[in-house]
Amino acid sequence: MAQDWGLQIVGEQPSDHAAVEALVAKAFGPGRFVKTAERLRETNQPRLDLSFVAYDGARLAGCVRLWPIHIGDVPLVFLGPFAVDPDLRSQGLGARLIEVSCEAARAAGEHAILLVGDLAYFSRMGFERTDPSEIQLPGPVDSRRVLIRRLVSGAAFQGLVRAG
Ligand SMILES: CC(C)(COP(=O)(O)OP(=O)(O)OC[C@H]1O[C@@H](n2cnc3c(N)ncnc32)[C@H](O)[C@@H]1OP(=O)(O)O)[C@@H](O)C(=O)NCCC(=O)NCCS
Repeated sequence: MAQDWGLQIVGEQPSDHAAVEALVAKAFGPGRFVKTAERLRETNQPRLDLSFVAYDGARLAGCVRLWPIHIGDVPLVFLGPFAVDPDLRSQGLGARLIEVSCEAARAAGEHAILLVGDLAYFSRMGFERTDPSEIQLPGPVDSRRVLIRRLVSGAAFQGLVRAG
């Protein structure tokens, strides 16, 4: 558990589900279901041991979920959705949530974290572009937004990303 600015970051529990869904709906809208990233979630279950929520009192301030995936035969984790309440942005909570989830994934022995997002935001947290000739998502995506943070040096991936 991490405590920042009066906000508590704790592991997601099944009882957080409704609040997480509401925050994600507010942040992304209904278009989130047609994204290629959703193909990696719709038949999958989040790793609650690697997913975190931040509370401002009783109000959900932010959330990040990690999901089990494979690239070829190699297991790794997929990050998202990731959102912070609009009233609480630009205070470092997003960066802290990413750091906490990455550290949990590293401690769990995961080799890498994959996500679809803006390099301009995620580069300062150690994410870099992937090579589309090496890593392919199961649907259309702007390949410049497919980012990876390797947690084990030299970890290499080749092939189609699949859920589970
Ligand atoms: C992305 C998000 C979680 C960041 O939360 P946050 O708590 O504000 O993050 P931080 O405080 O660590 O960083 C905020 C800074 O990142 C910048 N930033 C946010 N999204 C960005 C993006 N997509 N590209 C570049 N910079 C971005 C903000 O402008 C802000 O800059 P400032 O400090 O100069 O004001 C939040 O903006 C959000 O919920 N957005 C809607 C959902 C979303 O886009 N999620 C990510 C999809 S992978």
